[in-house]
Amino acid sequence: MKNPIRSQVYIVGAGPGDPELLTVKAHKIISQAAVILYADSLVPKQILQNTRPDAELVKTGNKTLEEIVPLMIAKVKQGLSVVRLHSGDLTLYSAIAEQMRLLAEAEIPFELIPGISAFQAAAAKLQTELTIPELVQTIILTRISGQASNVPEAEDLASLAAHQSSLCLYLAARHVEKSQAKLLQHYPPDTPVAICYRVGWDDEKIWLVSLDKMAVVSQKNNLIRTTLYLISPALKEVTATRSRLYHPEHSHLFRPQKH
Ligand SMILES: C[S@@+](CC[C@H](N)C(=O)[O-])C[C@H]1O[C@@H](n2cnc3c(N)ncnc32)[C@H](O)[C@@H]1O
Repeated sequence: MKNPIRSQVYIVGAGPGDPELLTVKAHKIISQAAVILYADSLVPKQILQNTRPDAELVKTGNKTLEEIVPLMIAKVKQGLSVVRLHSGDLTLYSAIAEQMRLLAEAEIPFELIPGISAFQAAAAKLQTELTIPELVQTIILTRISGQASNVPEAEDLASLAAHQSSLCLYLAARHVEKSQAKLLQHYPPDTPVAICYRVGWDDEKIWLVSLDKMAVVSQKNNLIRTTLYLISPALKEVTATRSRLYHPEHSHLFRPQKH
């Protein structure tokens, strides 16, 4: 085998779910690894369609850090190559910092392979650029506080909304009413919002609505997870070119064609 992968941990960003959006490097490592630990609620099965027949696939959705890290350490000590697969890109809400600290303490070598984040995949599906000259030149990537992690007060959603930038809101579907209320403190109610559910998965859905409909459309469609909100004046371009699909009074399903 050319350039076999090493006995170490590869922490890999799997992209949003479409296997064709894996990087070439991620694809190579996934196809050669002996052991793959993956966050099953966020990484769909099709990402694992080209693994070795003898690869050990370990779902981590029901495991704690105390179970995951010792397993990775034990496998590397057996001389095996280990992939720790996370959705999207590793820089965002991947909880890799504590894993890397424990691996470093155990003197286990590791390498990070970046991936395409959900916001990039969603913008591509919407055929939009999130920076438009004279209109918006900044992208904010943020989340809403959840059960497990609090957003620092200085980064409260309402204060970020004051910039009226393109804002990519992760991990917010369960708190959509609160999110909408905070956003409305600064964005006009007719600001376009793309509600992006499972971008790159087989059951992907995208709705384009006005900000004041963000919560009601999410709730009507029972969106509680794997949903990204893109709030952006730049989406006016999308709604202008897709006027049939957009009306501030009604929400319309925007279902991009599958290729
Ligand atoms: C734990 S975070 C991981 C984010 C990931 N590291 C990334 O860069 O996309 C999970 C959240 O990311 C967003 N997300 C991840 N994959 C998605 C997808 N395929 N479609 C829509 N949202 C997604 C959702 O907001 C979801 O609640």
